[in-house]
Amino acid sequence: MKPEEKILILDFGSQYTQLIARRVRELGVYSELLPYDVNPQLIRDFSPNGIILSGGPETVTLVHSPQIPAIVFDLNIPILGVCYGMQALANQLGGSVVASSEREFGHAQLMIAADSYLLADLDETAQLNVWMSHGDKVLQLPPGFVGTASSENTPYAAMENKTRHIYGVQFHPEVTHSEKGTEILSRFIHQVCGCSDEWNSEHIIEEKIKQLKTQLGSDRVILGLSGGVDSSVVAALLHRAVGNQLICVFVDNGLLRLGESDQVVETFVNHFGIKVIRAEAQDLFLDRLKGITDPEQKRKIIGQTFIEVFEQQAAKLEGIRWLAQGTIYPDVIESAGSGTGKAHVIKSHHNVGGLPEHMAMKLVEPLRELFKDEVRKIGLELGLTHKLLYRHPFPGPGLGVRILGEVTQQFADMLRIADDIFMQELHQFGWYEKVSQAFVVFLPVKSVGVMGDARRHDYVLALRAVETQDFMTARWAHLPYELLERVSNRIINEVAGVSRVVYDVSSKPPATVEWE
Ligand code: XMP
Repeated sequence: MKPEEKILILDFGSQYTQLIARRVRELGVYSELLPYDVNPQLIRDFSPNGIILSGGPETVTLVHSPQIPAIVFDLNIPILGVCYGMQALANQLGGSVVASSEREFGHAQLMIAADSYLLADLDETAQLNVWMSHGDKVLQLPPGFVGTASSENTPYAAMENKTRHIYGVQFHPEVTHSEKGTEILSRFIHQVCGCSDEWNSEHIIEEKIKQLKTQLGSDRVILGLSGGVDSSVVAALLHRAVGNQLICVFVDNGLLRLGESDQVVETFVNHFGIKVIRAEAQDLFLDRLKGITDPEQKRKIIGQTFIEVFEQQAAKLEGIRWLAQGTIYPDVIESAGSGTGKAHVIKSHHNVGGLPEHMAMKLVEPLRELFKDEVRKIGLELGLTHKLLYRHPFPGPGLGVRILGEVTQQFADMLRIADDIFMQELHQFGWYEKVSQAFVVFLPVKSVGVMGDARRHDYVLALRAVETQDFMTARWAHLPYELLERVSNRIINEVAGVSRVVYDVSSKPPATVEWE
């Protein structure tokens, strides 16, 4: 069941398309993404109050450029074209677009012209610093349109047809570098499309609980709880909806962070009163990993063993009809190709390694339409702690990808203590939330050190800390020397068997975040 009021984002392939959808939701209106060439019936069925056409990498000046489908105009609802979206509007409605010799990329000064409905709340003489990213530009407006802003390289940086409620902006209002960008989007979805702002955490929780109660009735549901953000929020939400019908299985694979297993029990069992089966499978995982050094094989073993242990636990329970998963909206968009929702994806990597078919359970995915920031907000509202919800991401195979070469109990124990020291000091120096992810890597090489008068050969640990928006690219974090010095001293003094600590100064690409 979707909310009454919604905005559709038609995706022409811009790197910012998801950001538009997130901004619209932050402004209190539900939004979804569909590819521009989706079956038009899906656009009609979505029944949007307004449509935003995203930017995209193509040029409208070619014969086969992506077109706005006719249904968009037939629906007779407000339209906002952003960047490529504006050029496509101009092109298809009878204006002209040319390839510009001056590519405009980055900051630009926007000069607002008089008499704009979309930009009405802004001072008419205002100059706004906005974010541009385009090669083509609109040279001639379509009939019935007026130009409402310009920039140094573009006579028409914004245009509108107030009567038909069709608007175009050449810049990216969704990007935080665009001054007044949020106000412009808000004006479109609230004033132009007439949407209210109902889409907020309380409303989402209320709706989800209603839906879950109807969907599950008195059936029992099982959830693989990893202690990460998504599965934790699913647990809290399901518990609120169906109480003791929820049973969680938490698999301790021996590759978790220091104290993590106890923390999960403390939070979910002691605090929330949720039923959690704790599968102590540390020995089984370590046993299967004995002698294995190939990274892919290690991943495979960890994944398969997880499924096996999870299944064994589930088999002991009677009458479980549903398997809950923490799939979130970006997983759906990424696996289905721009959110067509065609593929009913299952997170394949780790938390729940896929639905074993013979278990014959139905899937319930209560976070399927939500972005990560929305998941965190409802998590807070449901009583999960800020610490849990804003913890750095931790890979499914856990320390298995951070111990290079063979995984042993001894290496895992050393790494856990060292990693905990690094986290403590990041918090202490106020850097934990400034970096996107930080951890320690165990290197199975011995290097010389000296302790007292004696030389010794002991292991090397590497510290890794990165800053990133999306984990596709990342910059190594410029941590203060004092922090690095403190962490290094503490690790060498407190973790037996370590002679040397190094700091990884590689960015992604070409390096990846994890070392594997
Ligand atoms: P890489 O190493 O590919 O990592 O640059 C990018 C991000 O993905 C995380 N990562 C994983 N997360 N299961 C996960 O849930 C995995 O198997 C996995 N492998 C890598 C990594 O920690 C980083 O945040």
